[in-house]
Amino acid sequence: MYVMLLGAPGVGKGTQAKLIMDKFRIPQISTGDILRAEVKKMTPLGKEVKAVMDRGELVSDELILKIIENRLKEPDCQNGFILDGFPRTIPQAEGLDVILQKLDNHITLKVIEISVPDEEIIKRLTSRRVCSNCGELYNLLLKPPLDDNKCDKCGGELIQRDDDKEETIRKRLEVYRRSTEPLIGYYKQKKNFYRVDGARPVEAVFAEIVRVLSEK
Ligand code: AP5
Repeated sequence: MYVMLLGAPGVGKGTQAKLIMDKFRIPQISTGDILRAEVKKMTPLGKEVKAVMDRGELVSDELILKIIENRLKEPDCQNGFILDGFPRTIPQAEGLDVILQKLDNHITLKVIEISVPDEEIIKRLTSRRVCSNCGELYNLLLKPPLDDNKCDKCGGELIQRDDDKEETIRKRLEVYRRSTEPLIGYYKQKKNFYRVDGARPVEAVFAEIVRVLSEK
């Protein structure tokens, strides 16, 4: 099963990707998570991209395509994967077409757009917290931790992402409208494009995604 989750920052791509991963046993490939891991380890790549990410802008297509090509060649991707936050531009989508052809001509990608109104997105992202140790997601409004500022799963410290400040969120939304939204037209004209209303409880959104993924 090959899945792409498309949608603005904060619509719940990461949340739904983790649920799909658990149910269907295919890996989540989040370019945001890959880049943040490099920033955390302070690798040369991490140092190169940190400022761009903190400003809410996009990392170069060339770099992202190199990361994705290497990642999709890993053995755990052989029976499927979930693309979360990639592609984000038309050149990335075109690059992905080439990579998928090189990997296997028979891959059928299901593209799911999750949509949520901007004001709800801003509410979700300003209250998002992430475990600095295991990456578990929290939300101070929707899913608060049991113990203040500590991860329920591993006890790690909960942090706010550097790009989750309101001003940067608005910038990320602007970048989404300009660079990523045109992908909806790109994928709509192909087969297997679906739109899911993400402004509902997590379980309701997931139930609809499972229904879409179960369709032949
Ligand atoms: P990335 O990490 O991909 O961020 P994003 O796309 O902006 O998405 P988010 O992680 O913010 O949101 P999400 O949709 O995953 O929502 P989540 O499930 O966490 O990218 C970060 C940066 O990296 C980019 O700005 C760019 O610089 C760079 N980058 C990454 N990929 C790139 C690429 N391909 N090309 C170039 N640059 C790239 O949910 C959000 C919150 O809402 C959580 O608190 C959650 O608990 C809550 N929530 C989730 N679902 C619901 C619900 N149904 N109801 C209520 N609350 C909910």
